[in-house]
Amino acid sequence: MSVQRTELQKVLHASSFWTLIFCLFWTLVQGRYHLIGSSEPIVAAPGDDVILPCRVDPDWDAVEKTVEWSKPDLEVDPSDRQKYVFLYRSQREDRHMMMAAYIERTSLSSEGLKHGDVSLRIRNVTLKDSGRFRCLIPTLRTDAEVRLVVDPDFVSSTASETPDLIHPEPQNETSGESTGDKQPHL
Ligand SMILES: *[C@@H]1O[C@H](CO)[C@@H](O)[C@H](O)[C@H]1NC(C)=O
Ligand SMILES: *[C@@H]1O[C@H](CO)[C@@H](O)[C@H](O)[C@H]1NC(C)=O
Repeated sequence: MSVQRTELQKVLHASSFWTLIFCLFWTLVQGRYHLIGSSEPIVAAPGDDVILPCRVDPDWDAVEKTVEWSKPDLEVDPSDRQKYVFLYRSQREDRHMMMAAYIERTSLSSEGLKHGDVSLRIRNVTLKDSGRFRCLIPTLRTDAEVRLVVDPDFVSSTASETPDLIHPEPQNETSGESTGDKQPHL
């Protein structure tokens, strides 16, 4: 009886030892990396393309990992699979679990993923896109937030293109120059 007990104690002792080592190791791995979003809101006008910053610090290869972008304030039915603004896993975009409103409009940079830059690009934002966004990397158990403000009165930097529209009839010999930045050179 006492022999059995000590054997059992040994096994328990050993297993708890390895569990402890594993937990310590895991804490170190997790604790080392953080996601950094933006404390300042990202402001844009309707129709703009925006980039919501989010990156792992220090550099970390996220290409083979899962990255989830969601809107925490959006009321999503828990049974609804399509609850993400963007879901990256198995090295590709998983549209089956993305909200219809964001399919085709959101993307990550494949180059950025190599360094842990998981910033989200959203094209053609509308007033409905305003609010908190959250990026999460489940493996690292770390997340970050970015707030997007879509303001109809916001004058974006792209508005500087407007003078192009009221250009006088281009001179024959300079016409190539004035449209040079709009048309790709062949
Ligand atoms: C942008 O969105 C608006 C409405 O949400 C739509 O009417 C328009 O066609 C979109 N523009 C582009 C370039 O996708
Ligand atoms: C530009 O100049 C060429 C000859 O130099 C002429 O044939 C052509 O009609 C002109 N085009 C315009 C839009 O003035």
